[in-house]
Amino acid sequence: MSGVAIALSKGRILDETLPLLARAGIVPSEDPETSRKLVLGTNRPGVTLVMLRAQDVPTYVQYGAADAGVAGKDVLLEHGGEGLYQPLDLGIGACRLVVATRRGFDWAGSVQRGARIRVASKYVNVAREHFAAKGVHVDLIKLYGSMELAPLCGLADAIVDLVSTGNTLRANDLVAVEDILPITSRLIVNPASLKLKRDGVQPLIDALGAAVEAGEAA
Ligand code: PRP
Repeated sequence: MSGVAIALSKGRILDETLPLLARAGIVPSEDPETSRKLVLGTNRPGVTLVMLRAQDVPTYVQYGAADAGVAGKDVLLEHGGEGLYQPLDLGIGACRLVVATRRGFDWAGSVQRGARIRVASKYVNVAREHFAAKGVHVDLIKLYGSMELAPLCGLADAIVDLVSTGNTLRANDLVAVEDILPITSRLIVNPASLKLKRDGVQPLIDALGAAVEAGEAA
């Protein structure tokens, strides 16, 4: 059997991904959170973990540089999902994608008046689709992080960002004014890898599926 590479990203999702992988029988040979290595071996011969920026996970899997990966629905929507098989909702990394403004900003009024609204986000494609579907005209500003700062500094009237506990919004005196969609992390698979390395990739999908079900039942 040829090797199977699984693309993961560091951070919050990894904390939930590692126990799931462990339940599926895959344990990294060293801690990916602290290791400086970008390719890690596992207890399973031929199974490696490649550590990427979250936004790059779909790209590596799309081009077959990794056979499978774990990516948030937010990242997948922004990427477009082209050339990716998405067999499993892993149920981890649950959060919501929302529109948020400074507390006291008249969002509904601005939308109603057709005011020129500036929205900053890392998720400009998702934001564009969301507002277009509602017939709301916005000017989008692409950011790469710390979106919450944009309304505070006057860069934008609103942001499109992820909310989990709501602590970051509260700490910066922002409020969610629209829900866009709930987010969880998905297993993504390169379709050619599934065909050509079925004996390695299909058992991974099955084992992770069983691990998710066992977690849900617990
Ligand atoms: C996300 C998001 C918010 C924060 C929300 O950032 O962009 O800033 O989490 O979480 P909370 O509602 O629990 O406070 P993340 O920490 O994933 O890092 P990022 O800025 O790189 O996206």
